[in-house]
Amino acid sequence: MKPPPFTYHRPGTVEEAARLLADLGDGAKVIAGGQSLVPLLNFRLASPEHLVDVNAVAGLDELAIGDGGVEVGATVRTGWIAHGVIRNRGTVCGSLTHADPAAELPAVLALLDGSVEAVAWRGGALARRSVGAADLFDGPLMTTLDPDELVVAATFPALAPGTGWAVEELARRQGDYALAGVVLTVSVDDDGAPIAGRAAYLSCAPTPVVVDLTPALADGAVYDLVAAALDPTGDIHASAEYRRHLAATLTVRGVARARERAHLRPAAPSPRQIAFENPPMAGGSTQFHGDEHEVVVTVNGVVRSAQVPARRLLSDMLRHDLRLTGTHVGCEHGVCGACTVLLDGEPVRSCLTFSVMVDDARITTVEGLAGPGGELDPVQRAFRECHGLQCGFCTPGFLLLATDLLARQPDPSDDEIAEALGGNLCRCTGYVNIVRSVRRAAELLAQPADDEEARP
Ligand SMILES: Cc1cc2nc3c(=O)[nH]c(=O)nc-3n(C[C@H](O)[C@H](O)[C@H](O)COP(=O)(O)OP(=O)(O)OC[C@H]3O[C@@H](n4cnc5c(N)ncnc54)[C@H](O)[C@@H]3O)c2cc1C
Ligand code: FES
Ligand code: FES
Repeated sequence: MKPPPFTYHRPGTVEEAARLLADLGDGAKVIAGGQSLVPLLNFRLASPEHLVDVNAVAGLDELAIGDGGVEVGATVRTGWIAHGVIRNRGTVCGSLTHADPAAELPAVLALLDGSVEAVAWRGGALARRSVGAADLFDGPLMTTLDPDELVVAATFPALAPGTGWAVEELARRQGDYALAGVVLTVSVDDDGAPIAGRAAYLSCAPTPVVVDLTPALADGAVYDLVAAALDPTGDIHASAEYRRHLAATLTVRGVARARERAHLRPAAPSPRQIAFENPPMAGGSTQFHGDEHEVVVTVNGVVRSAQVPARRLLSDMLRHDLRLTGTHVGCEHGVCGACTVLLDGEPVRSCLTFSVMVDDARITTVEGLAGPGGELDPVQRAFRECHGLQCGFCTPGFLLLATDLLARQPDPSDDEIAEALGGNLCRCTGYVNIVRSVRRAAELLAQPADDEEARP
């Protein structure tokens, strides 16, 4: 469950990245958020000799909203898919180029007939091309992009006036990959009657499947049209028959929702540019060859450094090099959340993050929650008071998720707590006491600092 050795490169410009990919050939892989690539490396399902980290490439962390749609730069994070912790690192373009048939964003790109812009270093110059969604997806985890092509942006065209949208999916756990899902649009006339509809499906075929719903909208035959159009396969999670039924049922629901939204006819958003400003990375234009790198991080307020090979996971650097064993390791492919730490204030999976990618970053581990004299902080006290600790294996991850949630939302609803904690697993007991602990922590944090008597 450890990644194979590789050489790590961190270019600072698009040209530098493209030249690197051209020079390194098939042995190189781009890494952005690492939320899909690192699990593959940890499982040894992929073993590239070189990783080209695009996070320090200037100008890729912008999202531009214009009349034609939304253009999303290559290091803009995903925003609404998967669990919050995954979204904090995973990128939109990474999800599109990973081309997972169960992922939402490839289906959205296919639905809207969007495109990606790819660059490559060809004949001594930067060559650019636009690849439409219909030509991009080639199979499960496969695209038609060449190995030396770098996606610099993706464009999602704007919806026409009078068009509503819906995203409907069913996952067994909030934020997980869906058993089946649909993204769709419905356009209505001035009287609200549907005149056109289009749907794209995830988890139903090796690539997103686009279906024209228009012929079935008038006579309410949407279910039958979709059931006839899809030919899903079955697996241990769902039979083919169940997937077909689910996709058709979700489409019927989605059409109703999209028709309601079409009525609302929101004003077109004003053109604007949003810079996401990913945390700056040291040595933006530097390349790191060889095996050993010095990584300097501020952990729990203290500057620490370690000499690590490029493949050292952040979880392992914390535990083995810095001896901070409070960060636990369960699955090492991003599913359990035991390894969650705060990176520049946001929760991330430390098992999906290479140490060399967080040089100069600020990290908080569970050891950093207690006060200078070892006194427990309110979140820790609440977990102790409400028996949220149980066996304690998952506890560090939950404590850091709760700390992040309560910093953003001091009085969370039960739904907000479930959404925030949903990506982490407790394998020994259950979630009732953990959720109670978060509610209690919110109460403790709301008390005045000097109201110590009310605290446990
Ligand atoms: C527990 C868990 C749950 C998840 N649930 C969901 C879910 O419900 N829905 C969903 O859609 N996804 C889900 N994901 C996957 C994840 O959200 C996306 O696949 C991820 O965001 C991909 O983006 P990334 O930046 O992390 O890509 P990376 O992991 O860095 O890269 C993925 C692939 O894309 C290539 N690549 C990345 N950027 C570029 C670029 N600019 N140019 C060329 N190639 C590039 C890489 O070489 C690699 O092959 C989940 C992941 C985990 C770990
Ligand atoms: S060890 Fe990182 S998510 Fe399980
Ligand atoms: S408390 Fe034991 S795994 Fe969650």
